[in-house]
Amino acid sequence: MKLDVVEKNIGLMLGLVIFVISLGGLAEIVPLFYQDSVVKPVPGLRPLTALELEGRDIYIREGCVGCHSQMIRPLQAETERYGHYSLAGESVWDHPFLFGSKRTGPDLARVGKRYSDEWHRAHLMNPRDVVPESNMPGFPWLAKNELDGEYTAAKMRALRAVGVPYTDADIEGAKEAVEGKTEVVALIAYLQQLGTHLQGGK
Ligand code: HEC
Repeated sequence: MKLDVVEKNIGLMLGLVIFVISLGGLAEIVPLFYQDSVVKPVPGLRPLTALELEGRDIYIREGCVGCHSQMIRPLQAETERYGHYSLAGESVWDHPFLFGSKRTGPDLARVGKRYSDEWHRAHLMNPRDVVPESNMPGFPWLAKNELDGEYTAAKMRALRAVGVPYTDADIEGAKEAVEGKTEVVALIAYLQQLGTHLQGGK
């Protein structure tokens, strides 16, 4: 076969280019689905409790991800500031991922246990009370809104369907665990566990 036909036929050339690029893509992407370090939870990881899960949904609703990433990159400047770089096995049960890509504020991947609950509450009500130069907005309504837990169990069942290992007991106790608690309490519970499951990494 004369190969110069490929150079003279743009359609054929495009088709072959796409074919070759797809092979390269497959070779890079497919193995990820089978690599333990990517698909297995890190030792010590546990699913979010019902309260932390509600807190995560408030984090999503309030758009915290628009200013905060949860992804520490393996760069010295980041690991010195935030701690061990993020591992894929830490977010295998995160649906959807909250890696984010905007850092108006600091990365929060390992903010858990860095501050007290009281600090977080004051900061979320009015950030300037604790960090005078802050331009983060306050979220004072979180202290007034109460959770009713109506959908907590359903959310946990949905997460279980995609592989998060919730037990029947977790799901049965979900409503009771969150009912009557304020949204700020749930959000703080969520923040306080962020990045704390990586053993020996901090
Ligand atoms: C408009 C951007 C913006 C939004 C939205 C935002 N933040 Fe912030 N956040 C910041 C900035 C800037 C800082 C750094 C100053 C400070 O500590 O207040 C910060 C700091 C923080 C810190 C302290 C981090 C550290 O390591 O010191 C926490 C925790 C935090 N934000 C949580 C949240 C949560 C939870 C939400 C959503 C309810 C949120 N932020 C929404 C901008 C934002």
